[in-house]
Amino acid sequence: MGLGRAAASRFAEEGASVVAADTNEADGTKLAEELKSRGLEAMFVHTDVSQECAVKTLFGQAVARYGKIDVLYNNAAILLADRDRPVHEISLETWDYVMGVNLRGAFLCAKYALSSMLSNGGGSIIFLGSPTGLVGCAPALTAYSTSKAGIMGLTRVMAAAYARDRIRVNSIVPGTMDTPMNNYILTDPEAREKYREAVPLGRLGTPQDIEGLAVFLASDESAYCTGGLYMCDGGLTAV
Ligand SMILES: NC(=O)c1ccc[n+]([C@@H]2O[C@H](COP(=O)([O-])OP(=O)(O)OC[C@H]3O[C@@H](n4cnc5c(N)ncnc54)[C@H](O)[C@@H]3O)[C@@H](O)[C@H]2O)c1
Repeated sequence: MGLGRAAASRFAEEGASVVAADTNEADGTKLAEELKSRGLEAMFVHTDVSQECAVKTLFGQAVARYGKIDVLYNNAAILLADRDRPVHEISLETWDYVMGVNLRGAFLCAKYALSSMLSNGGGSIIFLGSPTGLVGCAPALTAYSTSKAGIMGLTRVMAAAYARDRIRVNSIVPGTMDTPMNNYILTDPEAREKYREAVPLGRLGTPQDIEGLAVFLASDESAYCTGGLYMCDGGLTAV
């Protein structure tokens, strides 16, 4: 399970009407159906976040169904372990693809969420950053790391730009989480142990580790928090 699914489920359990968006139609539909079968409010809209017309449609459908957007949880991203390479080796196509999903996609979702939030007098936008965007801990992942540095820059510029509109913008910075994105390193038992051992708290992160922070940043409990990068990494970036 990925981090987005866990956060979406928890948001629904906390009483939110959840609009899940993903290119993975099967998993997205399944999630919405599961939540609805538990009496929770959810819908799924197949969306490629890198495409402006798709994002426009997503937010159009969300507002048509629920009237407004209170929270944007900007989760979608790709990590292309086999194609993301050091600068002199990466292809322009790979660079553009990763930037298109990870950075342009997050920007587009923010852009369309903002029109609703501005007219409703506030909201909370949560991005997913990464330690790779803070330090050079993944030297082979040029595009992924740079896209995440961009996400954390976007967090701060948007926090400053929209603070007086009562729109808060923060990033969660997960460490090494046990999700499909990391299958390329964690399926090998030796590598898995190496990554686990590197975490001060002594274990890999789980999707559930993110949920509480996501709820905090989405809710009024974090009313005085904007422009922040919130580590959820077991201490990885503290050492
Ligand atoms: N897993 C980690 O260790 C880790 C660490 C730091 C940051 N993050 C970030 O957390 C977020 C979630 O990561 P995850 O581990 O759950 O990854 P994941 O690969 O499990 O989930 C990512 C989701 O994004 C979707 N997606 C991919 N391209 C898309 C597109 N163009 N449009 C819409 N959806 C698309 C995928 O289908 C998938 O459901 C990402 O932003 C990731 O960069 C993860």
